Amino acid sequence: MKICVIGEDGRGHAIVRTLAKSEAVSELTCLPGSHAIGLERLISNGNSVRCIPGVKVTDAKVIADLAREARADLVIPGPEACLEAQVGDLCRTYGIPFAGPCSRGARLETSKAFQFQFMRDNGIPCPIGEICETASSARAFAAKHWNGVAVKADGLAFGKGVLLCKDTVAASTAINRLMVNREYGRAGDRVVMQELLKGGIEIALHVITDNRSAFLMETACDYKREGAGDTGDNTGGIGGYSPGPLLKPDTLFKIREHLLERWRRGCQEEGFVYRGILYPGLMLMGEIGIRVLEFNARFGDPEAQIFLRRFTGDLAKLLYASATDTLDESMLSWSPEPSVGIVLCSEGYPRPPKIGRQITGLEDAIKIPGVEIFHNGTLKINGKWFSNAGRIVTVTAIGNDARANAYEAIAHIQCEGAWFRPDIAEHLR
Ligand code: AMP
Ligand code: GLY
Repeated sequence: MKICVIGEDGRGHAIVRTLAKSEAVSELTCLPGSHAIGLERLISNGNSVRCIPGVKVTDAKVIADLAREARADLVIPGPEACLEAQVGDLCRTYGIPFAGPCSRGARLETSKAFQFQFMRDNGIPCPIGEICETASSARAFAAKHWNGVAVKADGLAFGKGVLLCKDTVAASTAINRLMVNREYGRAGDRVVMQELLKGGIEIALHVITDNRSAFLMETACDYKREGAGDTGDNTGGIGGYSPGPLLKPDTLFKIREHLLERWRRGCQEEGFVYRGILYPGLMLMGEIGIRVLEFNARFGDPEAQIFLRRFTGDLAKLLYASATDTLDESMLSWSPEPSVGIVLCSEGYPRPPKIGRQITGLEDAIKIPGVEIFHNGTLKINGKWFSNAGRIVTVTAIGNDARANAYEAIAHIQCEGAWFRPDIAEHLR
């Protein structure tokens, strides 16, 4: 099978490395890929992964043309931006199977307003909320929900457009940041205001779908806030573990019936084709039940780096089946061992980070048992690695000592000013 993966970050790196382990893959191209991704080799023939630097993940025509030239049997999207840019729609027009939703389906992630309306229209359990077109209506909602709100920019904002506010003063500041000062530009044209849920357990569900079926993959939990004990600003995700908490039978029932069934019916009513990954972010609220906080239309980052470590099936065959409506639950198999991932972040992140700093110690880190490292944002120049983004690398480990080994490994890595959360997966301590 000849496959093109769209991506350049830690998630793309994890997808590529997992695909490279498939005997079915004879050629793997990553658009644009990265220096680290270009070092991966295919198990089937020892060839390296081809990267094409300079390709923008939003350049649908360039990507679809490259996939056609490469005679790709399958294109796999990494980031949501490529879905919004209609890469999948164009690949399908060219007759190339695409393991992701069409751009209309991807609006379930790319527009928080569409997402929220979809949940309400289809009876999917979600927090109480309102779509607000003006700062004054957003403030009115916050005044009614004085014990906390989530303020969500409608458009894509690098995973940072959700501001959690514990009182009306914080809410007013958040509304100003998004709607008045336009910190994320047009993403703040409207916001979704929601009650702030407290005391729940958050999990990431990854669901693999084709146009007929949807199967749950293993769960993961990620850490979004920058500070230990869930304090400070939201990040794109800076650590996590898999599996998440054990789901009780009645929770699983609600996930299947109230979430997946209703979601499937909603997709049919909207008339869009949804294949690939659906990743609902869920809050388990004990007796109250489940609440869906968000839909994502792709693998999570760093969840992919973490939970794909536990995948023992053939990812190439799985994603091909998802793109061609031939999915079967037997394609999913998992290691029972837990995995943990910790993201090394640049100084300043999630605010504008300081980058271009040398990274050392990666070779020592991967000698720790069960450890694998995925590069989120690095460059290799004259044989040396340098940081190139807010999230630098995800250090993962699998096995009974996953947590201890991941922390031991990350301690070997040096990069001036870099930091990581010290409290990932404390239950595995
Ligand atoms: P979202 O992108 O909508 O998932 O929001 C990012 C993160 O903010 C989520 O993963 C949650 O940790 C948190 N969050 C979002 N909505 C709410 C809410 N209504 N109540 C509490 N926390 C929330
Ligand atoms: N880690 C959260 C996300 O990928 O959306």
